[in-house]
Order: sequence, then C-alpha cells, then structure tokens
Amino acid sequence: MCGIIGYVGGREATPLLIAGLKRMEYRGYDSAGLAVLADGALTTRRAAGKIARLEGTVAATPLAGQCGVGHTRWATHGPPTERNAHPHLSKDGTVAVVHNGIIENANTLRSLLQGKGYEFRSDTDTEVVAHLVQELFNGSLEEAVRAALHEIEGTYGVAIISSRDPGKIVAARKGSPLLIGIGENEHFVASDASAILAHTRQVVYLDDGDVAVVEAGGYRVIDTNAAPLTRKVDRIDWELGAIERGGFAHFMLKEIFEQPQTVENAMRGRLILEDGTSKLGGLNLTHDQLMAIDNIIITACGTSWHSGLIGKLMLEELCRIPVAVEYASEFRYRNPIVTERTLCIVLSQSGETADTLAAMREAKRRGARTLGLVNVVGSTIAREDDGGIYLHAGPEIGVASTKAFTSQVVALALFALKLARKRGLSVTRGMEIAQALHALPAQIREVLDRAEQMEHIAEEFKRAPNFLYLGRGVNFPVALEGALKLKEISYIHAEGYPAAEMKHGPIALIDEMMPVVFVAPHDAVFDKVVSNIQEVKARKGTVIAITSRDEPALKGLVDYEFRIPETVDLLMPVLASIPLQLLAYYIAVKRGSNVDQPRNLAKSVTVE
Ligand code: AGP
Ligand code: GLU
Repeated sequence: MCGIIGYVGGREATPLLIAGLKRMEYRGYDSAGLAVLADGALTTRRAAGKIARLEGTVAATPLAGQCGVGHTRWATHGPPTERNAHPHLSKDGTVAVVHNGIIENANTLRSLLQGKGYEFRSDTDTEVVAHLVQELFNGSLEEAVRAALHEIEGTYGVAIISSRDPGKIVAARKGSPLLIGIGENEHFVASDASAILAHTRQVVYLDDGDVAVVEAGGYRVIDTNAAPLTRKVDRIDWELGAIERGGFAHFMLKEIFEQPQTVENAMRGRLILEDGTSKLGGLNLTHDQLMAIDNIIITACGTSWHSGLIGKLMLEELCRIPVAVEYASEFRYRNPIVTERTLCIVLSQSGETADTLAAMREAKRRGARTLGLVNVVGSTIAREDDGGIYLHAGPEIGVASTKAFTSQVVALALFALKLARKRGLSVTRGMEIAQALHALPAQIREVLDRAEQMEHIAEEFKRAPNFLYLGRGVNFPVALEGALKLKEISYIHAEGYPAAEMKHGPIALIDEMMPVVFVAPHDAVFDKVVSNIQEVKARKGTVIAITSRDEPALKGLVDYEFRIPETVDLLMPVLASIPLQLLAYYIAVKRGSNVDQPRNLAKSVTVE
C-alpha cells in the first residue's frame, strides 16, 4: 500500500525522492521518510503526516547524497508517528530499509535479535529487517539481503541501502509491487510507475521472489539463491499529464470528469456495432473454451466488487450462465466449488489488491481459467491471469474509485456481449446493446453538464449524519457504490440496500432527519421503486431521486431530483453512478475533508 522509491545515479537524490513520494502519496500517507548515503554514512529524515511535513524537515536540515531510498507509509504495525516512519536503520546505523507489506514472523525474529543485543526503536515489523541484514552482513549487501530473505516470512517490497556497500540499492519483492526504472547512468526503484515517470519510461517489473541489485550503471535481477534471472523491459505509455490534476481542484473531480473519455477508451477498437458483439484481443480463450464455460465466479473487493455485482446481472441475463460474485477476502479462505469449466473473472483497478490476487491464485489452483479486468498495465494480476481485458482508464489517483468503476462495467458488458452472441443472443438484441454502449460517452457528458445541480443538493445535505441509498436490479449495486463513495470521503455513515428489502429492517431508521437516495430510472422495476419511495415518504424521509424522465408517478414524492439520460436497463449503472460520485464529492468538499486522501484509507490495499 505504501510507496517506495529509490535512486542511484549522478544527481542529488533528495529532491528526486521527495518528488517521487509526492506522486505516490495517494498510496499511503500517514508518515514518510528518506535515507541518503554520502561520504560513507547514512542520514535519514522522517516525519509523521503528509509528505509536505517531510519536505519541511528536509528544507530545514538538508541532506546530500546521490543514492537513497524514500517511503510513504500506511501503518500496519504501530501508530503513524515519526519513530515508526520508514526508513528503519540497523543498530549500527549502516543499513536503511524501506518496506511495504507485513513481516509475519517479526515477533520471533525480534526476540532472536534482542537476544543478540539488538535494541528496537520502533513498533514496526519492518525494523527486524534492518537489524537482520546487519547481523548477516559479510561484505556484500546483496548477500546479506538474500540471507535475510530466507529468514523472513510474510509479504514485502523492500529497498535497502548500506554505507558498508555503497552505490547500490538491493530491492526484493514478494507480494508487493516493485519495479526498476532505467535511466542513463542512473536507476530507480519504485512501487509505482508514477513515481519515476518524470525521468524514464523504461521499466522492469519485478516478480515475486526476485531480488534486484541496482546501481548507477546497471542492474541485475537474481533469485534468492543468486541465480540470474532475465526480466523484460516494458515501456510506460501514458503521459505525465495523466498523473497531474490539470485545472481541477482534486484528482477525484478530474477523474469523474474524464469518464466520457475513459468509457470511450474502454470500448475503443472493441465494439462491433454491425454484428452486435465485441472483439477482445487478450482473452486467451478459444471458441471451444468459451463455449465450455458452465459457471462464472467474479471476485473482487470494494468498488470493484460492486461492478462485479452488475456484471453478474449482465452475464446471467445475456449469456444464461450462473454467476457467483464473491468478496475476494472470503473466497480465498473457504472451500469454493470450482471446476475446469469455471471461469473466474477478477476485477481490480490496481491489479495489486492482496486479497484479489490471492483469490485469483486460489481459483487457478483449483483448475479455473482466470480473466483479469484490470486498469494498471503490468500489475501483478494482469501478469498472472490467463487472459485479460485492460480498462484503459489511465492512472486513477483519487483514493475513491470513480472512472475505474464505470470502465469495469463497460468491460464486463463487452465481455458479456461477446459470450452471449456466441451462445445464442440474437443479433438484434446484440446490436441494441452495442449501440447503447456506443452512445454512453455522449450521455455521460450530458450528466456531467448538470454537475452544478448536484452541488446544490450537496449543500442541503452536507450536515446529514446518515444516508440511505436504495435501488433495485442493476441499480442496487449502484446504491451500494453510492453509499461507499459517501462514507469513504465524507465520513458520513451511509448504507446501500435493495429498495424493497428496506422494509425488512432499515425502514426503522427513517424519519425527517434521514435523506434517502433512490436510484430510480425508468426501467423494468420503476413502478416497484415508486412504491418504495412512497413507503419512505409516509415516514417523513427526505427523498433524493435519480430519475430518467418526467414521471407523473413521482409528483409530490420527491424532494430533490437529478435527471440522467436513458439507455438499456443493463447499462443504466454507468449513467446512474455518476451523480452519486458527484454527490459524495461535493458533500465531502463542503465538509472540508481531504477528498483525494481520505483518512485511514490507501489507494491499493496490498496487505490482507
Ligand atoms: C474504492 O473507492 C475503494 N477505495 C476500494 O474499495 C477499492 O475499490 C478496493 O480496494 C479494490 O481495489 P482494486 O480495484 O484496486 O482491486
Ligand atoms: N508493515 C510496515 C509498517 O507498519 C509497512 C507498512 C506499509 O506498507 O506502509 O510500518
């Protein structure tokens, strides 16, 4: 979850490390630090809070050197204080470690090292790595790190430097993303390509079990037993502008407004209007394999899980194949029924979510074929799945996922369309859906043109302590997603429910203090939703409705209304989720929360 950056080359490391950390701040932001090597000694600076605090510390007491490592933390062991911030130094101050992940046998190692006279200065699991490397050091940092890795259990991305073997960073990966950035007579190590994009586009993604020895003039990748490995050089193909805010107040707002483009990009070259189907190059599934699928499991976390729920309804409706949607964290620890005719669809913006990755590996072990719908190119899920559909939404920096969600729904629709047309869906129905997909970008633009209306609604409700979101059918997951967005960034308690299920419990909560958001476009279950709205009104609840036409049935029932264009029922979530993103965004801004970096969260959850 945290961000790791390392630099070795001919330039001053500190400004490069700070700039890199800022780019990755969305990944974890409770404390930060860096260590730089100069004149045979390591110097560190650390600070609790945002990178800006660290920057202040560094400005007050600068540190020079052309090799260093930096870290922005998302605490797992010990509070986010300066003493727990990385880098952690070994007892003799010769080894500095930055780490992402969890060392599971940290307690055992700690006792062992304490027995040998090592004193611990932090509550973190990471500190054991620094002392262990010192303990095992015998002239070569690379060998000491390799030896230490044999003692460590758990997950890690680590970058380690030492004053006793200067001019190199030794990095290793198991379960946390890490890459090498290749420059001219300089190299980087980073957990995220955005950290180094300003300097190079040439990267080498490390695999689990890899150890990299990175110097100014070159790099080597080996395994933990020192056997050399060959890793290919990839090219990052997105622009620096994609990771900048442009004219927008927040990344989240920028990403909400990018959706006409990102939805278009998800379909680019894939939609075949005249045949009512899609062309998906990376599926790696033959016609026979596609036909053999007799059940689908979709697994994901958070917002991606919500798009999975929509995917289920699309796939079952169009392809007539049973689909189960599972939280990845649950799926991985139970005994699921998976056969070689199971297709496991894995949804993940980051492609690094630890639970989702583990669920995918479990499904694979049990014989399923895996299909990854992933945004981040080169991420672990994208590299380990059997086939994939990239979302092409561009970097999503706001911690609250927005554009990745709509792209996931579109990618699921494209896949459902392809599979359905092979399995009997009529060309007419296929064309109808393909046309509707094609029309989405312009319709999203229409929704966004009305953003100001949502800002007014937000003003009315910014002090509400609770919210209920209700919807039916494909719009039930939209209600869940709307509630998640609101709680993540505004810290208002919100719940999503199937609209009719409300009367089995949550209805007890409704009074004049309870705003209820209804996702109520004109679809097959509209009349049913109207009855649910009446139930809320009868109990003096305040109704905010997302509707798609002037409905006589709603006269006098709705307090605030936001209109969206109409599309086929199955695609409604793409349009209906956008006003809810805007509502959450404006409420959060009006309450003064840090929208892009909400408390306690991090962009990609690489611990279980
Ligand atoms: C979304 O707003 C969340 N921050 C979170 O639920 C997220 O969707 C989840 O952690 C899954 O992430 P992924 O798509 O990168 O796997
Ligand atoms: N487990 C380590 C800690 O608590 C690393 C956390 C992180 O990934 O930022 O410090």
